[in-house]
Amino acid sequence: MPMPLPDTIAIDGPAASGKTTVGLLLARRLGYLCLDTGSMYRALTLAAIRRHVRPDDEAGIVRLAHECDLDVMPLAGETDGRLYTVLLDGEDVTWELRLPVVDAYVSQVSTYPEVRAEMVRRQRAFGRRGGVVMIGRDIGTVVLPEAALKLYVTASAEERAQRRLVDRRRQGHYDDDYETILADVVRRDHHDSSRQHSPMRPAADALQIDTTGRTVEEVMDQIMALFNGIPSQERA
Ligand code: CDP
Repeated sequence: MPMPLPDTIAIDGPAASGKTTVGLLLARRLGYLCLDTGSMYRALTLAAIRRHVRPDDEAGIVRLAHECDLDVMPLAGETDGRLYTVLLDGEDVTWELRLPVVDAYVSQVSTYPEVRAEMVRRQRAFGRRGGVVMIGRDIGTVVLPEAALKLYVTASAEERAQRRLVDRRRQGHYDDDYETILADVVRRDHHDSSRQHSPMRPAADALQIDTTGRTVEEVMDQIMALFNGIPSQERA
């Protein structure tokens, strides 16, 4: 049964599942705002690395979570392949968020309940604007449980690692290898889904979409077919 266009769309899923690609395309197609919440946890992790706060220093990380100024902004004509721009205390850190050292620590930094409470507070404030697509691990379960549409985007770990490898090569990182990326994806999935506080999992009412072996266009067609008043062209 097609549904009216939902005002708020929650998209969750494991590392490199394609949820960000799908979320950004969906937001563009609907003329909605989009927030990739992973970028907030990544920016906080980068802030900790820069200020020499160790990832196991919970009190230090919590303090930083309250102090740091984070902004995720839509593209404004940049042509360097970024999907959005992230500002940390006013500085553009978009590319640094993808450093392997950030991948290594972000799951631990994201475990602390007080860190999550502060990030969720900021994410809900964004969600209140309406016309929003929000992407993460706990959006449908914790951040926006009232979202009218919840998607849980998955793919096999092998395919996700392969996609991330292609992304990295496209960004000029030729020294990454498939086995290392696969190990990081599997390690983060395990950490994110087994943590005590808001673990990664599909909401009971989420539509699960397995993107293994499917193109972005096929996945987008499946999602757009859910709606009955589909905009004929992109609004933004
Ligand atoms: O792009 P990728 O799927 O590799 O990761 P991401 O979405 O940028 O998220 C990076 C990390 O942030 C995840 O592995 C989680 O540890 C954490 N995260 C979270 O705990 N809750 C969210 N809502 C989003 C991300």
